[in-house]
Amino acid sequence: MSDLVKRYTASVGFDRRMWRQDIRASLAHARMLARQGIIAPEDLADIQRGMAQIVSEIEAGAFVWSLDLEDVHLNIEKRLTTLVGDAGKRLHTGRSRNDQVAVDIRLFLRDSIDDILVLLGQFQSNLLELAEREAATPMPGFTHLQVAQPITFGHHLLAWFEMSRRDAERFADVRRRTNRLPLGAAALAGTSYPIDREFVAAELGFEGLCENSLDAVSDRDFAIEFCAASALLMMHFSRMSEELVLWMNPRFAFVKMADRFCTGSSIMPQKKNPDVPELARGKTGRVYGHLTALLTLMKGQPLAYNKDNQEDKEPLFDTVDTVTDTLRIYADMITGITARPDSMRDALRQGFATATDLADYLTRKGLPFRDAHQTVGLAVRRAEELGIDLPQLSLAELQGFSPLIGDDIFAMLTVEGSLAARNHIGGTAPDQVRAAIVRARGLR
Ligand code: ARG
Repeated sequence: MSDLVKRYTASVGFDRRMWRQDIRASLAHARMLARQGIIAPEDLADIQRGMAQIVSEIEAGAFVWSLDLEDVHLNIEKRLTTLVGDAGKRLHTGRSRNDQVAVDIRLFLRDSIDDILVLLGQFQSNLLELAEREAATPMPGFTHLQVAQPITFGHHLLAWFEMSRRDAERFADVRRRTNRLPLGAAALAGTSYPIDREFVAAELGFEGLCENSLDAVSDRDFAIEFCAASALLMMHFSRMSEELVLWMNPRFAFVKMADRFCTGSSIMPQKKNPDVPELARGKTGRVYGHLTALLTLMKGQPLAYNKDNQEDKEPLFDTVDTVTDTLRIYADMITGITARPDSMRDALRQGFATATDLADYLTRKGLPFRDAHQTVGLAVRRAEELGIDLPQLSLAELQGFSPLIGDDIFAMLTVEGSLAARNHIGGTAPDQVRAAIVRARGLR
């Protein structure tokens, strides 16, 4: 092999990241081999002793990774053989790098999913705390980014919670399909040794076996699913980021963000930029890219293992890093958000946010909703001409639009009245927001 071909085909530069998983799986395989009488108990003891030394060498940064040995698997096996002799050479009995790499990736992804679920949980509990504090804080809800109806800030944050809850469900679901043992498939057809796959599965905490050896070494659909779940998660965090960027803009001024998540400008001394949300929004693109890369990687492959699959790792690793960093930073950033209720209320006043409440009032008095809609449209036009909000129109003026209007209307047209009226599961009434928070905490 020329140096170029060696560099082109080697993966040790990146797959060494899975060294812990590789050793964990090798030790389980060795215990099974000894238990089945395929290797001697002394061989197992040597393998365990050698692997313990390799772990401390890698942890100490003293392990020498060699490009000549191609990947993480061959590097560790070679070192083991140097340390313990023949026992090291017996480790690979009944196994191939094809099922070895498959088991390593599955273990790596399972570990990553567990980290992601913990981080999502931290994000969610910080989010619920903020939502509780702001359960009754009125802000405009938007459609088409135009003021639509009053909502509470807490209610808005609970929408974020729901998005992240489905993300957590998706990762838990991906975990089930990831958590199956491919080891035992060997190169592609299984092995002639009397192996015990169920034992290895139990040792490694897998919930079951990959049932077909060809499928076990070849498919990476679980990795693609992981990227799909990650892409959806990033899509959600990108949307939240977009809202934070808007809310931090002085035209909105709905929130203040702790300085530790913002940067200044090198030229404009007055700037405070929402860099972290902007980057979360920007990093979403690379995760989408990784999903596309893996889908494309698999689409033309015949059974069983092909070297193409080595290309799965860098996109996967970068996806894991991007998602975990984003979650870690978001969990903290949520605690750095302070609401600015005065600006939220100002925005509400400018948008005729309680127009729907006036229409609902007329409907309750017997006017068909469509007629009520039209009547309120005229009232809004009048208020707009006068440069005032709906509840500032006089009773006489309002009655000019409909004789059904009485002086009980003004309570309905306040922001608080509008909020309190939406009093059902999923509605924005502060009591409902508080109840939703209780339910959300019960789930977690
Ligand atoms: N480094 C390879 C990968 O990442 C390991 C499996 C190689 N198997 C082989 N027969 N060349 O997929």
